[in-house]
Amino acid sequence: MIPPEFIDDVLSRTDIVEIIDARVKLKKTGQNYSGLCPFHTEKTPSFSVNGDKQFYYCFGCQASGSAIKFLMEFDRMDFITAVEALAGRVGLDVPKEQQSPEAVVQQQKRKSIYEVLEQAATFFKQQLKDHESRDQAVTYLKARGMSGEVARDYGLGFAPPGWDNLLKQLGKTNHERQMLIDGGMVIEKAEENKTYDRFRERIMFPIRDLRGRVIAFGGRIIGDGKPKYLNSPETPVFHKSRELYGLFEARQHNKKLEQLLVVEGYMDVVALAQHGVNFAVATLGTATTNEHLERLFRMVSRVVFCFDGDTAGQNAAWKALQISLPHLRDGRSARFLFVPDGEDPDSLIRAEGYEKFAQRIQDAQHLPDFFFEKLSIDVDINSLDGKAALSQVAMPMINQIPKGVFKELMMGELSNITNLTAAKLQSFSKIEEVLPSRIVRAVAPAVDMDGYDGIDPGEPDDDFPNFHGYEDLPVDRIPLSALAQKALQILLIQPEVCVHLTSDTLAQIKEDRGSTLLAEVLWLIMEDDIRSPVLLLARYQGSEDFEPMRQLAEKEQLLAPEDLEDEFLGTIKKLTESRQKETKATLRARLLSKPFSQLSQEEKDQLRTLSR
Ligand code: CTP
Ligand code: MN
Repeated sequence: MIPPEFIDDVLSRTDIVEIIDARVKLKKTGQNYSGLCPFHTEKTPSFSVNGDKQFYYCFGCQASGSAIKFLMEFDRMDFITAVEALAGRVGLDVPKEQQSPEAVVQQQKRKSIYEVLEQAATFFKQQLKDHESRDQAVTYLKARGMSGEVARDYGLGFAPPGWDNLLKQLGKTNHERQMLIDGGMVIEKAEENKTYDRFRERIMFPIRDLRGRVIAFGGRIIGDGKPKYLNSPETPVFHKSRELYGLFEARQHNKKLEQLLVVEGYMDVVALAQHGVNFAVATLGTATTNEHLERLFRMVSRVVFCFDGDTAGQNAAWKALQISLPHLRDGRSARFLFVPDGEDPDSLIRAEGYEKFAQRIQDAQHLPDFFFEKLSIDVDINSLDGKAALSQVAMPMINQIPKGVFKELMMGELSNITNLTAAKLQSFSKIEEVLPSRIVRAVAPAVDMDGYDGIDPGEPDDDFPNFHGYEDLPVDRIPLSALAQKALQILLIQPEVCVHLTSDTLAQIKEDRGSTLLAEVLWLIMEDDIRSPVLLLARYQGSEDFEPMRQLAEKEQLLAPEDLEDEFLGTIKKLTESRQKETKATLRARLLSKPFSQLSQEEKDQLRTLSR
């Protein structure tokens, strides 16, 4: 919302050399200044600051930008804060750009939602102290070894049994009720003209943003039952795939955060904190996303992923690895900690205590080790074709790492393993049409949890069929229809042909029983922005679908590259049309199976249209 002219103004009054020199020792060298790069580890200075152009650049890791970017990266500020900091130095006030009336309304609404969520958090905390049935909640928390102190730090609360506790307390006016609905705390059944509390009889975990504002809740059932956790839905203030539970608290507890540990559950975060590991955060029932990593690496340079030691955990870790690669410029690192089967961080740290757990973090596997270990598992790296297969998978992945020393080291390691020169290896990544002919290792695509939350009481409880997002895919899948197969074949040559599909079309494909795999691949391409056919196929290595997909990818196709998109869109059009036809045919058959006299007027009209 800051006007661009103002930013120019601030930058033109700021001396970047002064800003950087206050944080990094600089020396004048010719026209420029130089020093040791703060963004990667180095012994000889390759970091240079140009006072004329008001620009910094590192020849080692390619970090570059203006004074604003520098503050964002070095002091880990967000954009606005960085501009404010610079403006403050030169005595300027950041103007608020004239907002459209619509934007003002939206902002007002968000403000009201924050307020109501804060009040809800206070209410839940209070209920844990003095509701008549608080005992069950307190007993449960105690049985799980939770201390009062950590419950206070994380603001845990109790949503008492009953359908309208929160509604009665905070929804006295129409406006208040609306804010409860918009904030995801109250469910509205418009048809029945009913409203009721989303969270009932649950332990409440407030989710806070970096400023400490409550933006959503997670609620755990007390004891057994389903769903075990219920989360707030997406709201104007809560976007699940972006947020991390415990990030605010981790920052509060650590003056200087050096690393963050990414775990799966609320309870894990809280238990770890109670035992002294106060830098854990949890994704909210989703796989790790790009947005998560952007957040994490803005705050720390080391991220340790913690996963179960089983196959599902390995697969989730592999997905996290793939998403991490583009973020790993020099100076940053990702590591992997696998907890023993049957344990989670919560149970583990309670059982073995701080020291041992801290040691596990210390010993967490480095990304390159995990990378090469995983890729070499089913490949005979002593054979020539094994080396080729390994290179073909590894190269496009390594090429996702930003330019720098780390990338070179990864290439070097691959060279060592395969005895192939870097130039030769690069040539592999150019011929992406040649696909790996060996199955390397089980990697099923992750499935996001969105859509599993907010289960209505009227509907049967969803028992979280695929909650972890990386459990096995259904085996009894209907084979792809010929059209779906053709579309998939094109995607395996040029994944981006699908980027312009409308959500309506996607929804129709999703509904089509003969297109399950196609729908899933489309989703994967869009969600993770996959552009490389090899990376796409790599996601399926080891899963049931890998072999058929590989064959499909290698099948001869006679189209020129520039015709692929048209062909793809044409195929999808046929597919959705045939689906619509099918739906009509089914409906017609259903109507015909009833005696005509028993049809309603509407059904008769329908039948007439359908039979025409
Ligand atoms: N989750 C969810 N909805 C569910 C189950 C899980 O959103 N029905 C998310 C929650 O964020 C939860 C995390 O996935 O914290 C991990 O789930 P799980 O491993 O099943 O539970 P734990 O964290 O071990 O929880 P607890 O120890 O309380 O059983
Ligand atoms: Mn647990």
